[in-house]
Amino acid sequence: MDYSRTIDETNPLMKKRNKQCLKWNQKLFKWPLIVIWFIVLLLCAVCVLYIFTQNNIESESSNVLKNKHSLHILSHATTNDDFLKKCAPIVKCDQNAKYRSINGSCNNLKTPTWGAATTPFLRLLNANFSDGYYDIRVQTNGSALPYPRVLDVNIFLNREIYKVDENNVLLMPFGQLLAHDISGLPNDLIIDENGNAIDCCLTENKIKNYTQCQIALENLPDDPVYSVHNKTCSPIFRSLTSRNYSCPLYPTEFINDNSHFIDASEVYGSNESYALHLRAMEGGRLKFSIGDNGQMFCPFLANQDKASSGNKKTHIKYDTGDPTNGNQNFGITAMQTLFLRFHNYIAFKLSSLNPFWSDEIIYQESRRIVIATIQRISYEDFLPIIIGEDFQEIYGLNEANIYDPTVNPSTSIEFSSAGSRILHAIIPVEFNFMNKDYKIENSIKITDWMVKADLIPLGDNFNKLLKGFIETPGRMLQPSYNFYISNYMLTLPNNPQYKGRDLLAVDIARGRDVGLQPYNQVRHFCGYPLAKDFEDLADLIHIKDVIKLKKNYYSVNDIDLMVGILLEKHSGGAIVGPTARCLIADGFYRYKAGDRFFYDVKGQPGSFTDDQLKLIKYITLGHVICATTNVDNVQEDIFKTVDHNLFPTIKMKCDEEFNLNFKAWEEVNYRTEL
Ligand code: HEM
Ligand SMILES: *[C@@H]1O[C@H](CO)[C@@H](O)[C@H](O)[C@H]1NC(C)=O
Ligand SMILES: *[C@@H]1O[C@H](CO)[C@@H](O)[C@H](O)[C@H]1NC(C)=O
Ligand SMILES: *[C@@H]1O[C@H](CO)[C@@H](O)[C@H](O)[C@H]1NC(C)=O
Ligand SMILES: *[C@@H]1O[C@H](CO)[C@@H](O)[C@H](O)[C@H]1NC(C)=O
Ligand SMILES: *[C@@H]1O[C@H](CO)[C@@H](O)[C@H](O)[C@H]1NC(C)=O
Ligand SMILES: *[C@@H]1O[C@H](CO)[C@@H](O)[C@H](O)[C@H]1NC(C)=O
Ligand SMILES: *[C@@H]1O[C@H](CO)[C@@H](O)[C@H](O)[C@H]1NC(C)=O
Repeated sequence: MDYSRTIDETNPLMKKRNKQCLKWNQKLFKWPLIVIWFIVLLLCAVCVLYIFTQNNIESESSNVLKNKHSLHILSHATTNDDFLKKCAPIVKCDQNAKYRSINGSCNNLKTPTWGAATTPFLRLLNANFSDGYYDIRVQTNGSALPYPRVLDVNIFLNREIYKVDENNVLLMPFGQLLAHDISGLPNDLIIDENGNAIDCCLTENKIKNYTQCQIALENLPDDPVYSVHNKTCSPIFRSLTSRNYSCPLYPTEFINDNSHFIDASEVYGSNESYALHLRAMEGGRLKFSIGDNGQMFCPFLANQDKASSGNKKTHIKYDTGDPTNGNQNFGITAMQTLFLRFHNYIAFKLSSLNPFWSDEIIYQESRRIVIATIQRISYEDFLPIIIGEDFQEIYGLNEANIYDPTVNPSTSIEFSSAGSRILHAIIPVEFNFMNKDYKIENSIKITDWMVKADLIPLGDNFNKLLKGFIETPGRMLQPSYNFYISNYMLTLPNNPQYKGRDLLAVDIARGRDVGLQPYNQVRHFCGYPLAKDFEDLADLIHIKDVIKLKKNYYSVNDIDLMVGILLEKHSGGAIVGPTARCLIADGFYRYKAGDRFFYDVKGQPGSFTDDQLKLIKYITLGHVICATTNVDNVQEDIFKTVDHNLFPTIKMKCDEEFNLNFKAWEEVNYRTEL
């Protein structure tokens, strides 16, 4: 990719314009003398003025471009084309297709598999494995890296800041929904004869030295939490590699099971057969279940928890476009529910406008609007909070219609296995269920309710949960995850809490598993000086933390990327530091400039009309909540907490001001024919 090309493009444009001026001048010789002189003078003035203003504009815009250029990063990895050369399927594309494919293929017409599900993550930097192939990186003195859990205990745990954030809790589940839209890295599970994943920590399994178990998390005997229970190990698996998708690559590459684009794949699925499975095949709708309260939810799956199968009313799982994560915690399940309802809401509206539309057309048009809505919320409301409004602007992320077929839309492994996960730090301890009078009726620990979202369809819970999201201040981004998610994550039902895991330790281990370069390399790649010594890190990291790093790692070149970015001081206007900001901005630039179906792209078969675009730009997450829940008031700035007593006017009343009119989708010609 070469972003400098954009600058060059302006030069031929200037030349063409100057030529036009000359042509007019030549014609003038045929005119009477005085008129000629008069017009020549006038033209000269116009030309001079024109060139003058053009120059001004050009120098201004090239400033912006230069700025943008210096912020943008180009992948330095040499392995990104290996999959294309050796394994990519040959895909035939219909250039005139109006709707994006389910798996993301054919978005880029020149490289049809770019961004498609089951293609590798992009690498920004070449992999770092100790054997150059697959083995976990070691420290530069040859010893193993510090245990991830030990790093969490020594550097991050027990430094929580309990300060109220200006952002509300909603930012978190929306962020998680988005994270799983663009990224899905499956585990390389070892399944036993009963169909369950084995426990890598059992002695009988440990002695077998399974490669899949190489990143199982070791805890020290003096661990502040686990030692009490003699828990010395937490089981996690290495990730599936391209080899598991019949594509051996050297060094090891990792496959994104979801489509890389922001395309609501978590709502619609990432392959054709699964997408069909999720559809009702009637009225363009997605399949759904109705709760005892008469409300719509994602389809209930049969109760899979043997222990509680006596109670038929308990539904442990829901069918969503993302079977891996849709049920992971009841926050993400709530978001899945929200967008399933929104799809069916739009499908209903569109079919009333165009009763003659087929199931297929209603489904595709509704899907297109849902995707556009998620994209709009991501870039207008979510991203500015994360990387800062000003940075987003100068990076060129706010410009409309910037599709560029040379931009690879793939999710980078640096972004999905580190950069994006920094937002794990805003996961709050609990979710509040809030009633219409702003009273918290119930607070529930997320870690007590993982992989079981039974609460959601009970009574008025869904509405109360959404109200809790928008009315409860979020957890401030800080260099530590909350205590529960740092110790007790994913405790299985009926297991004691301490059987859970440490999400931060998992994230550090995952970075090693997929061969991320250490922090120093990535920060340098993002335009900051390569640190020669620990002390050089003090430009971006507080000196107190630099000292901690020095105590835990052998060399400044050994620090894990996840550890480094969590410790970086926040950049102005952003909630993350400069290296995370760089990785996140790069990702979102790819999802916009690299997406031919991005909602504001013009002149493509799938482009919205101007009238349709007007509505899309108007739809906020607040509208989605209003359309799909009985929450009565939402703030215009949907991710900010607004005191309803102090600022009642900043809230809009759902039933009054909320009005989504899909008239721009009405097919008038068709109707008059009938
Ligand atoms: C209650 C909230 C959340 C929980 C419990 C949670 C937990 C997890 C877990 C267990 C993993 C897999 C770790 C591994 O084995 O490597 C994961 C992956 C990930 N999480 Fe979260 N997470 C939450 C929220 C978020 C948020 C808010 C974001 C960012 C906006 C996020 C971004 C990611 C990303 C990008 C991945 C990698 C996904 C993949 O490639 O498969 N998560 N998370
Ligand atoms: C995506 O879907 C297309 C069409 O269904 C198929 O040909 C292709 O193999 C799939 N996978 C990729 C990576 O393109
Ligand atoms: C597993 O690794 C240990 C230590 O390297 C070794 O002693 C043992 O023999 C290995 N076990 C098997 C089954 O290969
Ligand atoms: C932990 O192990 C020690 C020594 O092996 C033992 O004395 C203690 O009872 C164990 N504690 C628990 C909670 O199992
Ligand atoms: C994935 O590939 C590895 C190496 O080829 C193999 O050992 C492992 O069993 C595979 N995993 C699955 C789930 O097939
Ligand atoms: C399609 O996606 C579903 C859900 O992620 C998965 O279980 C299934 O194996 C996929 N099918 C194919 C053919 O890839
Ligand atoms: C490498 O450094 C670590 C700590 O920084 C130390 O514990 C380890 O013993 C060293 N290894 C060698 C071979 O010197
Ligand atoms: C991996 O990182 C270490 C530490 O920065 C470096 O010494 C080594 O050369 C890197 N290896 C590769 C293959 O990039």
